[in-house]
Amino acid sequence: MTEQAQPRKTVCGLGHSVKRKEDDRFLRGQGNYVDDVNLPRMLHMAILRSPMAHARIKSIDAEAAKAVPGVVAVVTGADLAAHNLAWMPTLSGDTQAVFATDKVRFQGQEVAAVIAEDPYVAYDALDLIDVDYDMLEAVVDPFKAMAAGAPLIRDEKEGQKDNSVYHWEAGDKDATERAFAAADKVVKLKTHYPRCHPSPLETCGCVADVNAGTGKVKIYMTSQAPHAHRTLFALVAGLPEQNIQIISPDIGGGFGNKVPIYPGYVAATAASLLIGRPVKWIESRSENLISTGFARDYHMEGELALKNDGQMLGLRVRLVSDQGAFFADAQPSKFRAGLFHIVTGSYDLPAAHVVADGVYTNKAPGGVAYRCSFRVTEASYLIERLVQNAAYELDLDPAELRLRNFIRPEQFPYKSATGFVYDSGDYHTALKLALEKVGYEDLKREKEAGRAAGKLIGVGIASFTEVVGAGPAKDYDIVGLKMFDSAELRVHPTGKAILKIGVQTQGQGHETTFAQIVAGELGIPPEDVLVQHGDTDNTPYGLGTYASRSTPTAGAATAVISRKLREKARKIAAHVLEADAADLEWDVDRFQVKGVPGKACTIQEIAFAAYTNPPPGEEAGLEGVHYYDPPNMTYPFGSYVVVVEIDEGTGVWKVRRMVAVDDCGVRINPMIVEGQIHGGLTEGYGIAAMQLITFDDDGNCIGSTFMDYLLPTAWETPKFETFATVTPSPHHPIGAKGVGESATVGSPAAYVNAVVDALAHLGVRNVEMPVTSAKVWEAIRQARAT
Ligand code: CDP
Repeated sequence: MTEQAQPRKTVCGLGHSVKRKEDDRFLRGQGNYVDDVNLPRMLHMAILRSPMAHARIKSIDAEAAKAVPGVVAVVTGADLAAHNLAWMPTLSGDTQAVFATDKVRFQGQEVAAVIAEDPYVAYDALDLIDVDYDMLEAVVDPFKAMAAGAPLIRDEKEGQKDNSVYHWEAGDKDATERAFAAADKVVKLKTHYPRCHPSPLETCGCVADVNAGTGKVKIYMTSQAPHAHRTLFALVAGLPEQNIQIISPDIGGGFGNKVPIYPGYVAATAASLLIGRPVKWIESRSENLISTGFARDYHMEGELALKNDGQMLGLRVRLVSDQGAFFADAQPSKFRAGLFHIVTGSYDLPAAHVVADGVYTNKAPGGVAYRCSFRVTEASYLIERLVQNAAYELDLDPAELRLRNFIRPEQFPYKSATGFVYDSGDYHTALKLALEKVGYEDLKREKEAGRAAGKLIGVGIASFTEVVGAGPAKDYDIVGLKMFDSAELRVHPTGKAILKIGVQTQGQGHETTFAQIVAGELGIPPEDVLVQHGDTDNTPYGLGTYASRSTPTAGAATAVISRKLREKARKIAAHVLEADAADLEWDVDRFQVKGVPGKACTIQEIAFAAYTNPPPGEEAGLEGVHYYDPPNMTYPFGSYVVVVEIDEGTGVWKVRRMVAVDDCGVRINPMIVEGQIHGGLTEGYGIAAMQLITFDDDGNCIGSTFMDYLLPTAWETPKFETFATVTPSPHHPIGAKGVGESATVGSPAAYVNAVVDALAHLGVRNVEMPVTSAKVWEAIRQARAT
């Protein structure tokens, strides 16, 4: 009991820019990534990939490869089939070949693997495997894939007669038709959100260690969702789940790329099981780019119905999603097109209807949520581009059109036309702040004057709304696993704690921010809270980290379990202070007897008493676990304004200003949030300006190295000016909303809107991403010619 001590008012809970605890080891080069794991007797696996996009496999001759000194085994699809492992389920309930047995369906598909004493021997021996292919016609365009007579890609699927993956609709068709009938103006946009790739710094890989003696299957894996992966391994391989331990050590970025289960993980595990030695598989950069989860590749047609005064009446969207050869999107089962149907964005749009078709093509599977909540990025891009074009057609200022149609603060909670219930928002304030910071009125004058003088200046706005925190169990599951998340908190006798969470950081700073949540609730300083994650044997079950779900789900679970422990702490404090529990009040890091200054018991003293002097009849210890089923998603939002200048002679465009206002509710660690936003804005710029994976007619992947697939470096990346508004989530225990992906979701439209705005007076209404200078030059040329 403390009689005189002053309350420690700062334990660096919410709102403190605490330096990242994890950076100590990263800055010292002491991170522990999958490739750092080296086990005794470990072998190395290299994967043979198909050079063709569509071909029947006539035969595979691996004898020469097997004869290479150092090669221990060659595994083919037939070998896996003998153990019923040639096919595996995807996260969208489809099937995917682990190693091709009948035919290959995309360039880069896994065909066989060499397991050797040395990784270089394994890679060299791949050249000696002789695969006899019978080339088939490839189809890389989803519209051609849908046409009658197109080659059937998934001919092994019973009942599959064409290349359709799914047909899905959302919203109210009749109400939308009525809205369009009442419109003065209908604005249309046909666009493609191109295929891009999350490209984490660390590629995918694993070390599988199957111990025949103990039956333990330990897999060190680049996994964003270790618990879900463990369950799927148990289901696919029929292994007892208690014997499977998935350890996701330090992860060098995920961005959605490390959510799916890849054939390499399964093959390495099968090889370790069959050979009885640990097997490491680490993919190369090109393997990562051509064969692991791509993102986007959405063909979209949007129509916005408006009154002449700018009032939005309805939205109609037609989507074609290029899924590649296997439907492997990681997304909630109920929503075939992810959360695309949040396409009404920040606007009070009374009617909307979305029709989506997924199509198989001869490309790698994927559709991963690359730094986004499933398909919200494509949705945000479409509506923000449409609104900008609508402003031109109605001769209204794009900012004014937005302000007239935003959902007003008093309308929250707001039910959208496609069924989302937005928790909170203040879109007007965010946009007005962005306009003020960028000096919008002055810019408009400068733009007009510039045009007169032959100078092309454009201002692009995007006012996005996100939907993150998947999610409420009633609607959200992945292959049946409900999308709750968890936190287990144990306070040790000396008042230090260990927090175990079901989510898994890949660089987002959870070891710091989750400790801050405990600090905010229990008064234990963040440096005294060890955060443990990424090890299925030692953390409670959770669906993992992607789609900015960690803070809304496991962050909430952390706050709730801390509060539960605080209630137990109250009873212990009452016992120690010989006071009535009802007479105690919580003060930062202690319980204080009301009205008796100095009569208090700190959390450290309470923790000690929990193990040395628990109240009679009360269980000893101070620990617990909470599984949090969020009542709703959280809806972060923001307004971005980009100013560009275009050189008419070359089409080169440069970002002059980028002002970003973000609102993610209560910020746990403002510095980390800023870091997330800077990273997201950079990726958004990369997508808008340069990132593209494309294919020739034969299905050859163009974009398989960083020479072709461009990522922005410090040289190209614009300078960002970031600002915040704070509109707490009313249902999250600490009022926080997710933020990790907001900037990637919101910013591409702002960049493209800025380029289009600079050319709008010429009649240009669209330039497709990536907006290269060649495309801009061509758009100017064509506009001037008409
Ligand atoms: O799921 P993921 O961690 O990728 O996304 P997130 O929940 O948006 O969190 C990204 C990082 O920002 C984490 O370290 C969060 O705890 C932190 N964050 C924060 O400090 N305040 C918020 N309101 C939201 C996130």
